[in-house]
Amino acid sequence: MRLKDKVALITGAGSGIGKEAALLFASEGARVAAVDINPVAAGQTAQTIRAAGGDAIALTADVSKAADCEAMISAAESAYGMLNVLFNNAGISHADDDDAIATSEVVWDLTFAVNVKGVFLGCKYGVPALRRAGGGSIINTASFVAILGAATPQLAYTASKGAVLSMSRELAAIHARENIRVNALCPGPLYTELLMKYLNTDEKKQRRLVHIPMGRFGQAKEIAYAALYLASDESSFVTGTEFLVDGGITAAYTTPL
Ligand SMILES: NC(=O)c1ccc[n+]([C@@H]2O[C@H](COP(=O)([O-])OP(=O)(O)OC[C@H]3O[C@@H](n4cnc5c(N)ncnc54)[C@H](O)[C@@H]3O)[C@@H](O)[C@H]2O)c1
Repeated sequence: MRLKDKVALITGAGSGIGKEAALLFASEGARVAAVDINPVAAGQTAQTIRAAGGDAIALTADVSKAADCEAMISAAESAYGMLNVLFNNAGISHADDDDAIATSEVVWDLTFAVNVKGVFLGCKYGVPALRRAGGGSIINTASFVAILGAATPQLAYTASKGAVLSMSRELAAIHARENIRVNALCPGPLYTELLMKYLNTDEKKQRRLVHIPMGRFGQAKEIAYAALYLASDESSFVTGTEFLVDGGITAAYTTPL
């Protein structure tokens, strides 16, 4: 049991990476607060965990709202007495996110509200909870696009993930002596609803796949396993990293034909 006696709060736990992480963390002994803006999806994740004999509660929160973030941390602490792991994972990739000319201010602001402010607010209320527990691990989901530019533009999303990565480094430096570790998790392109909605034609999918040395999209579960390592005490000397789990996309200039 790699997360025995730990309490983990995961945002975006109703789908994709967050859901797989919630199931995996619970199967490794964590008590899980599964948070999502979609109450039905969060409820299903918590229910699946309980049906498998694990311990989970479902919480509804919009991570772009301060009051919701304060309430989700407080509800997790009230339910389980402490918080050890904060996985700020919720994020959006808007269908109308494009280049600088075509991207509207509305899309830019919404993307930053969820992807950047959501991580900030999670930490604003989560760090004091981790302090009360004597330390802990924060994992912020960034993306490989924080490191590489893509000619298929999604400017707001890419800039937002760059912000998550740099924010995570600074948080790591600030809180390192408090036994609070902070890492940015940088997934490569995954076979999830979020990305498949964006790469909605075969041509767009192929254009992305040709850059991945492994020649396939990743699975959410493969990212959940990386999050499990960062959440657990196995990563006790790991902080401030850009933890890439990307099928080699950031390592390659050309890929096998
Ligand atoms: N899918 C990919 O290829 C990929 C690659 C790199 C990074 N990521 C990042 O991984 C994270 C999870 O993505 P995913 O692929 O699992 O997506 P997903 O769409 O499958 O799941 C995201 C979940 O977040 C929830 N959510 C959305 N807005 C929210 C809000 N304001 N407050 C609370 N919950 C909210 C959604 O309801 C959904 O359940 C995101 O931060 C995303 O940017 C994804």
